[in-house]
Amino acid sequence: MSNNISRRSFFNKSIGLGAGLLLFKDLKIHSSGGKIGKTPIIITDHTNETGQNAMKAGWEILANGGSALDAVEKSTNIVEVDPEDVSVGYGGLPNEDGVVQLDSSIMDGKTYSAGAVACLENIKNPCSVARIIMEKTDHVLLVGKGALDFARKWGFKEENLLTDKARNIWLKWKENLNPDDDWGAPDHLRGLRDLAQQKLSALRRTVEAQGIEFTYGTTNHLSVDKNGDIAGITSTSGLSFKIPGRVGDSPIIGAGLYVDNEVGAAGATGRGEDVIKSCASYYIVMRMREGRTPQEACEDAMKMIIDKYKKVNPNFFPGEKFIALNKKGEYGCALMTGKDPAKMYVANSDGVNIYTGSVVFKK
Ligand code: GLY
Repeated sequence: MSNNISRRSFFNKSIGLGAGLLLFKDLKIHSSGGKIGKTPIIITDHTNETGQNAMKAGWEILANGGSALDAVEKSTNIVEVDPEDVSVGYGGLPNEDGVVQLDSSIMDGKTYSAGAVACLENIKNPCSVARIIMEKTDHVLLVGKGALDFARKWGFKEENLLTDKARNIWLKWKENLNPDDDWGAPDHLRGLRDLAQQKLSALRRTVEAQGIEFTYGTTNHLSVDKNGDIAGITSTSGLSFKIPGRVGDSPIIGAGLYVDNEVGAAGATGRGEDVIKSCASYYIVMRMREGRTPQEACEDAMKMIIDKYKKVNPNFFPGEKFIALNKKGEYGCALMTGKDPAKMYVANSDGVNIYTGSVVFKK
């Protein structure tokens, strides 16, 4: 079933029933795991083997009494250096010029501090540069050359981040230029037909021809430690083949990541442009502050984005995934569109387990 068909029938149904309140009636919500709150805890959206290894490493820190901040940095670093992962750090897909530009943010709830880098080139672990910005300067966000110069001063090694695998995918994309680049009107204003979906399909075709599933990619790592302090990281190589200099949601505090030590934390993956406009991670944390569970708060953010686009282009169907965690150690995740509900890894005293959240539009 195409996205268009499922979306149309979805909207017909919700408009017919006449209420946003009914919007999520059809959602399959799996929330049992998310109800059981345990700390310390660490979660990630990354459900591959590297994500599992990242959780084991983060949990080891937490189980030994370490901080949530150290746990999320360690676990994110493991994903960032995985050369097989084309969505994050080393091996991430490049921009349209073939240059890998990384975005990352970190937030420490205990000290209400944040750091971030955008368009950082040649450094494998952007989240660790973000942490130094957070801890050793009064700034929050450094970009481009400034971020690279800063990283060099702190001894980060410069490396070519473009692996052969990523370069081959980029070259294949170059051969198919135009229908799937980022020039032209914003995706949600591109005519009656859903060109955004066409564009996504073109990207998918290109990348999937290589046997690799296309992803907007990004990794979120959120944790509560034994003292109840909360920290989070989001790290990404960003939208594949983006216009050079494009900054996504990942380094924007409140968009790709937000942490409030009294409440919890949220992180986003997917189409960054939507996440920036909706301040999605901040919104999720504020919903949790109002008493929503992490699972409900993630779904609330999806609904908010759908409602915004409904008046502009009801056929527009952006793709996001949100994960969230509260101070009690409850967790949740939601996916805008997909074959299966959102999944994530959860590591706590029960071990490292997959949690299944919800999907808004099931394909
Ligand atoms: N969520 C990653 C990006 O859009 O850059």
